[in-house]
Amino acid sequence: MNKSPDAQRMEKIVSLCKRRGFIFQSSEIYGGLSGCWDYGPLGVELKRNLKNYWWHVIVHERDDVVGMDGSILMNRAVWKASGHEDTFTDPMVDCRSCKARLRADQVIEKKGGRQCPNCGGKDLTEPRPFNLMFKTYVGATEDESSLTYLRPETAQAIFVQFKNILEVSRKKLPFGIAQIGKAFRNEINPRNFTFRSREFEQMELEYFCRAEEGTKLLDYWLEERLKFYENIGIPREKLHARKVPDEESAFYSKGTYDIEYDFPFGRQELEGVAYRTDYDLSQHQNASGKSLEYFDEETKQRFVPHVVEPSAGVDRAVLALICEAYSEDEAPDEKGKMETRLVLRFHPRIAPIKCAVFPLLKNKEPLVAKAKEIVDLLRPHMNVFYDESGAIGRRYRRQDEIGTPFGVTVDFETLGEKDAALRDTVTLRERDSMKQERVPVKDLPRILLSRIS
Ligand code: GAP
Repeated sequence: MNKSPDAQRMEKIVSLCKRRGFIFQSSEIYGGLSGCWDYGPLGVELKRNLKNYWWHVIVHERDDVVGMDGSILMNRAVWKASGHEDTFTDPMVDCRSCKARLRADQVIEKKGGRQCPNCGGKDLTEPRPFNLMFKTYVGATEDESSLTYLRPETAQAIFVQFKNILEVSRKKLPFGIAQIGKAFRNEINPRNFTFRSREFEQMELEYFCRAEEGTKLLDYWLEERLKFYENIGIPREKLHARKVPDEESAFYSKGTYDIEYDFPFGRQELEGVAYRTDYDLSQHQNASGKSLEYFDEETKQRFVPHVVEPSAGVDRAVLALICEAYSEDEAPDEKGKMETRLVLRFHPRIAPIKCAVFPLLKNKEPLVAKAKEIVDLLRPHMNVFYDESGAIGRRYRRQDEIGTPFGVTVDFETLGEKDAALRDTVTLRERDSMKQERVPVKDLPRILLSRIS
């Protein structure tokens, strides 16, 4: 069967990710581990740039948000109080024919009844709840008393530290606590590359407020988050704010939006923005017996704050960035013949490498020395890459393929051999337009920094 253009595009993206060192299968030499992925040298830079930018926008640029970094293992009581132990489940169905374990929403519904998507079999069990939390034991005894879970979301650490952080930060409502960290879910069917993984990272903000501010802040944060994705290079027309119907959202929620992106495998959730009322803090207050109230100095009232939560998946955003950046166009090769050029059109802000530096020829010492001087000039400001091997056109292509937005070439004019006026100037090439301009070496940090942010 012929694959659809979107399926082919996704295959090319997965293969590029491996070939150029963005994302590898975890434990690959042992056959992998389903739902787990490793980020290679370029992937880790991309992911870090995304997380740093989120932290910058959410924490550093604001007066009303502070950060924290909670532990992955927490007291089991947290997961009882939050409701995860009893209700963090997906409905699961077994196929008795091929033994596949399926999420109930993957079962094909046909007129003749339900069908297994793997083997077409119709002998399926009724759906039953499957808890997605990974169990583990803390300490040397493995029994009920030492049982806990790897956290399935980072949010709960924020709720249980609410009082401590309120006291040390002396913030007034509305204010937020932000966190980036790993989360684990034993997904029944991990799929679509890194989209649904068993180990992943979240960037979560819990923005605490008064009850009467909740609905307005939900709209405010939805808009802020949409702007964030635009600022990292995902156009608004590929983003969709889906209002989650009441019957799909948690019973305590007073409004939830899913921010979705048009992946090659369909429109899927990148982030949830939810008005969770005072449910989480109240649950922990009741279960722990410790007050999680806020005291309003002006009105002299004590109350449990409400919360609006924008909760984003790091890995899903990275995947969206790669899918969005992937493009093929036509460019001339060394002999002027047109060939297909593969380009990752990352926004310079999140590109793993910002600038590549090339001496025109590797066997001309003055060119090499000058190029290395430029690397030293730029390195304190950005991630740079030095490459001297192969024809210059091939070196450009290699950088295009990993999304490096700028290339600097040191040639004989840089040495002032042809025209003294051009001494200490270089060509600066822009990845997408492939346009080249001549700029003084001393201006490079300023020019590049202004174009990166
Ligand atoms: N604290 C709220 C919360 O965790 P969620 O909608 O379950 O809400 C938030 O998760 C985000 O975390 C999702 O929008 C998604 O980006 C990411 N996420 C959730 N499960 C994931 C998985 N299995 N693999 C990758 N990312 C996931």
